[in-house]
Amino acid sequence: MSKNAAQIKVGLIGTQFMGKAHSNAYMKLPHFFDLSANPVLQAVCGRNEANLNKLKNQFNWVGGETNWQNLVNRKDIDLIDISTPNDLHYPIAIEGAKNGKHLLCEKPMALNTDEAFSMYEAAEKAGVVHMMIFNYRFVPAIALLKKMISEGKIGEIRHFNAVYYQDWLVDPEFPYLWRHDSKTSGSGAHGDMNAHIIDLARFLVGEFEAVNGEQKTYIKDRKKPDGSGFGKVTTDDATAFMARFQNGAMGSFLATRMATGRKNFLRFELFGSEGAAVFNLERMNELQYFSREDEGDIQGYRTILVTETSQPFIDAWWPPGHIIGWEHTFIHQFKILMEGISKKEKVSPDFYDGFRCQQVLDAVEHSAKSEKWEKIEPVDRIK
Ligand SMILES: NC(=O)c1ccc[n+]([C@@H]2O[C@H](COP(=O)([O-])OP(=O)(O)OC[C@H]3O[C@@H](n4cnc5c(N)ncnc54)[C@H](O)[C@@H]3O)[C@@H](O)[C@H]2O)c1
Repeated sequence: MSKNAAQIKVGLIGTQFMGKAHSNAYMKLPHFFDLSANPVLQAVCGRNEANLNKLKNQFNWVGGETNWQNLVNRKDIDLIDISTPNDLHYPIAIEGAKNGKHLLCEKPMALNTDEAFSMYEAAEKAGVVHMMIFNYRFVPAIALLKKMISEGKIGEIRHFNAVYYQDWLVDPEFPYLWRHDSKTSGSGAHGDMNAHIIDLARFLVGEFEAVNGEQKTYIKDRKKPDGSGFGKVTTDDATAFMARFQNGAMGSFLATRMATGRKNFLRFELFGSEGAAVFNLERMNELQYFSREDEGDIQGYRTILVTETSQPFIDAWWPPGHIIGWEHTFIHQFKILMEGISKKEKVSPDFYDGFRCQQVLDAVEHSAKSEKWEKIEPVDRIK
């Protein structure tokens, strides 16, 4: 940990799943990476006081708030971390930008493209650093693949096929949550899981041109956890779509919470003119790679164990072969964010990436209704 590093005071909103994952990342980051600015766990916010105090004590947050407006208005906060249900991303980001706070936002960015663009515009106008959490870009094997693509090892990409499977909605007794209500969540499996693989496609392949989708909700009512009856499910359990990219590549995508037996199964295959690659989150330290340059008799997919210190992010961790896990993706992403804030530089992925991802999400939903291909309007970055 660098003693001369500046301090970036973080205000985190959300105390549950992502609240814990982000707290863990802020806590560990300065112990492994030598940074020009270290995060300070200044204040955490959640409505439920018991949950708030639990997280606050678990990770030694200095302060706590039960009202997000209070947090966003505090003078002693530099960075607002938005880890709440999706309907709050927009109001918190707008208020945060007004107060000159740097912004970190969980995916999906917003409830719709208009909100997402307004958030991007507000952050740019305020001149703050803004970042979207698309943490899978920071898996070392995926960062390595990005480098291999830029070096021409895959060639012209023709296909990107991705699935993201979970099974927690197979159980009809699974209760009604904010994730089942389009007013709080926007969409279901689509915004939650397709957002990740759409972003990976933009990262590795390029911009989308058009999409054609199908959405399904299999269980239409679920029991409310407070015993007050049933809630109407207004979000998708599963969304599949085909895609055409601007560079001519074809894509297929399926996100479902109805994938019996699959817990958090994210897998993609990418085929190019010179090579191909396969990634599976359950084997996240590995990248499968096929090169057309290999000699005929020994040609075949090889498995690269991405744990060498020369490979992305690994030099901060353990000797080769000592694998890392899912939580490290957030630590890697936060490293980029801290450096960006301290050097007053733009970071990637940012709110533009969140907005472009949201455009694809919305176009798929429109297509599922229109039963037609829907185009994604090309929009440049704000200059
Ligand atoms: N990057 C990832 O891999 C990943 C994984 C899961 C969730 N997410 C995203 O993270 C966000 C949060 O998801 P989660 O799974 O942590 O949800 P969660 O339900 O576990 O937690 C939501 C939190 O928001 C807080 N909250 C709700 N309303 C609030 C309000 N009015 N004021 C203050 N706090 C409020 C709740 O108290 C709770 O602490 C979502 O946008 C979700 O899509 C990202």
